[in-house]
Order: sequence, then C-alpha cells, then structure tokens
Amino acid sequence: MKRSEIIKKDGQWMWLVDGEPFVAYAGELHNSNASNLKHMDEHVWPYMKDLKINTILFPVYWEMVEKEEGVYDFSLLDGIIEKCRELNKKAIVLWFGIWKNGTSTYVPKWVKTDTENYFRAEERHGKKTATISPLCNKAVDADRRAFGKLMEHIKAINTSETTIAAVQVENEIGLLNSDRDYSEAAEKKFREEVPEDLRKIFDIDERGNYEQLFGEDAPEVFMTYAYASAIERIASHGKEICDLPFLMNAWIEKYPWRPGTYPSGGPIARYMNVWKKIAGSIDVMEPDVYVAEFDEVASQFTTENNPLMIPEYRRDVYHISNAFHAYGKYNALCMSVFGIEDLMTPPELRLGIFNPAVLATLNINLEAWQINGTPDVLNETFDLLANSQKTREKARKEGKVYSFARNNETEKGTVIETEKYSFQIVYNPVNKDKPKAAGMIIETDEDNFYIMGTSFKLMFLPKKGKDCNIGILDYEEGHFEKDSWICERPLNGDEGVFVQFFDHPETKRLELYTY
Ligand code: DGJ
Repeated sequence: MKRSEIIKKDGQWMWLVDGEPFVAYAGELHNSNASNLKHMDEHVWPYMKDLKINTILFPVYWEMVEKEEGVYDFSLLDGIIEKCRELNKKAIVLWFGIWKNGTSTYVPKWVKTDTENYFRAEERHGKKTATISPLCNKAVDADRRAFGKLMEHIKAINTSETTIAAVQVENEIGLLNSDRDYSEAAEKKFREEVPEDLRKIFDIDERGNYEQLFGEDAPEVFMTYAYASAIERIASHGKEICDLPFLMNAWIEKYPWRPGTYPSGGPIARYMNVWKKIAGSIDVMEPDVYVAEFDEVASQFTTENNPLMIPEYRRDVYHISNAFHAYGKYNALCMSVFGIEDLMTPPELRLGIFNPAVLATLNINLEAWQINGTPDVLNETFDLLANSQKTREKARKEGKVYSFARNNETEKGTVIETEKYSFQIVYNPVNKDKPKAAGMIIETDEDNFYIMGTSFKLMFLPKKGKDCNIGILDYEEGHFEKDSWICERPLNGDEGVFVQFFDHPETKRLELYTY
C-alpha cells in the first residue's frame, strides 16, 4: 500500500492516505514564515491550533537546504514536521527550488552568482532575467539532486507516520516579463524542428519549427515544453526515491492575458495537455485562485483528467463560501487559504503582509487579501464539510451531491434539479462583508436532504411539466459530528415558512413530500 496516492475509482477522484480517503481542508503559510523555528514558535504555531484545518502547506527552501554544494541540511523541515504531528495536521511540502513565482530567487548562493554555469533566461535584446533558463541542464540537474535528497528525507520522515501527504514541485513556474527565453541556447532550440512528442500532443503531422507550426503561440508553447521537460527530469528522479503525489501550482492566466504578464510556460489550464504528457510524474496541476471567477477556473482545471486541488485561495470572507462549490460540484481534494497564520493573529502582530506594491507585482487585488470576518466563516465551513465528508462521499457515488455559488452580483439565483424536486435557490442581497451565496445539497433519498451553505433562501418547485404541492415533513437545524446527524432544533411555524440560510455557514435537514 502506498503511503499516499491520488486515484480514480468508479469515475471519482480520491486521495488515499494510508489507504483511507483523505480530503485536505488546508492553509498555506507565508513564504518566509517557515524559515526559522524560533520565529515559528512565536509567530506561527500559537495561531494555528484554533484553526479547523487538517493540513498545512509550507515551503522548503533550496537556498537553506544546500548552502554549500553537496551538503544538505533538513533540520528546519524536521522541526516543522514535529509541530505538525503535535497539532495532528498533515503536511504538503512546497519545494522552492530552481523556480519560484517565475524567478530563481530561492537557489543557493553558489548557483545564483555563477551565471556562467547556471545561465539565465534572457529577454528580447539580451537583458538577463532573474530566472535560470529551463534549458540550463546543469542547473536543472543541480535542483534534481537536491530534490532527490529532499525526497529521501521525506521518505525517512514518513516511516514512523505518514505526515507529509504530498509534495509541490517548485512554485508558480514560468518566465515573467518576456514571452520566451531569448538566450543563445533558447534561440537555437526555438529555430530547430519541433520535437515529435510535442507535435503529437497537438495532432500535427507536418514538420517545422515552432513559428511555422504554432504561429503567434510559438513562444508560449516553446516555453511550456522547455519547463515541462525540465520538471520531468526533476520530478521523475524524486518519484523513484519516494512515491508521493506530486503537485504543481499555476499562476493562472489573467488580465491582460499575455504570456510574460503571467509566467510564460507555466502549468496553466490551456497547456495542461502538454504538461500531462511531458511531465507525467506530476499528478495534479493546481490553480492559485485570487480572482473572482471561481467556477471558470475550477472547470478549466478539471479537464484533462485532473482533480481539483487549490493550494492558494483568496482570503476575503465574501469568496470563502466557494468552498461549498469546490468540495461539492468539483469534488476538490484540497482547498487551502493563503497566509493562513494571519487569520488568528491579532492585527497589530501581523507581519507586513499588506504591502500593496508586492500584491501589484503579483497581479493580486488588495481585496483578495482582506481577512475581516474570515476566521469564523472559514472554521465553520471547513468544520461542517469535514464532518459530513463520508455522507458526501456516499451520496456522490450515486451522483446525489449538488452545489452552487453566486457567480456575480446581478445573478438572482439558480435552480437545482434533484430526483423528485426542483429546488429554487434565491440568493440573499450582496454584502461584501459576509460570505456570498453558496451551498451544497446532499440527497440521501428522493425525499431526504442535507442542505448546507450560507446566504440564500430555498423554495420548492414541482419538476417541469408536473403539477403537485410540495410540503415539509421534517425541517431541522443541526450539525454533523463525524457523519452522524445531530438535530439541535426542529423548525416549524414562523421558522418554517422559509428555508433560509443566513450569513453564516450552517446545515439543515429536510424531509419533503408531495400531495
Ligand atoms: C503566489 C505565490 O505562489 C505565493 O508563494 C505567494 O507569493 C503569493 N502569490 C502571494 O503572496
């Protein structure tokens, strides 16, 4: 049995850890908050224990692991895992190696300063970038060696207990500020014939160079192939040593949608076909979601036989309720809020994370960074989703899990079709300080439902073309405890006139009948 694996069973994605179904309700630490154990004792761990997350994502930095070439130090990782175990949390390790957010800021000094051997990608007129070229085999091999050592160490850590459930290889890779690498090595390759495996992916029989075969998309296709090939060299080596799920996160395509304004060559949805074929050791391509178009991104990243995992999710309370849709419609295996340690930290103790200039560089709206009201709503949401997980899994096998989330401010609502009823969902008015309308319906039989979510009203319609009255037999507010329903209060009379969900996540049970 593998310690951790992501498989497809009966058409559904599942994550098994030690053979048991696992779903991550998670949070990712800030980039520099896993770089010193004492700092973590003071600024991170005290604020983690009251969060209803079961998984922590945190970086391991190449520059700290291999300060001297060939000498490895994983004491930082060991210290963090010890704490994860104390808090009973799983971990997803993020390998900040040769590439992080389109640049090579996390490579060790001996790599960073040796630009001869570890050459940089160049912009159009020879301007060197802060990114090591994906065509620099020497650098890729150096990362590969270090990543192999990391995986050896992870294997050893996991022997007593599976704590590290997955590994993210690099972080938001691709080239920024240029559509492609124009270094000498890249120029040469770009003019060569497109490799056969790449042509096959696009069903192109004829031969030719990138420009001839891909026209205006040539630079991005070229970079995608270069990065995916480099990643496969790194990841396949790691996988041979320790077979855990490997993940890659994407800085997704967004305004103004030109390669280079987002990292060119990264694992965006449009090129998942290339990534899946060329970088076969990567199990999941993941979107980092700071935009508002949740449904659009989630559906793009669930094509190409890819399960939904979101390693970085925006923090504002309004968009947190998308979790119902992520774990409902999209059967997400992981949703992780970025900068999770801030949520419980008193505002005066939060560390310089509101720097608008940094966010502008990353093309992230300040709005996505607000956390007023988020902690309670996130805790309630994750708590009720985790406690109803098995109920959801059982219903999912029959196709009986439905979900929705408001897409925009003018949308009035939606209609959900179950076996016997049409549920008219009416969204509550928009209030940006509260979670937006979103929810999930679990149908246990044709008349019985658990309904969870926030900020909507539910009404019943007969199925199209049918004429009947619909009434309520049971209407209860309550909650799940490890998948057992606990009724807190049967509702009727004034409280039963509408099936109403207010601005906090809650769960209700309904039994309906027709007459
Ligand atoms: C996306 C990156 O992947 C993260 O490491 C971090 O830089 C966030 N953006 C924003 O802080």
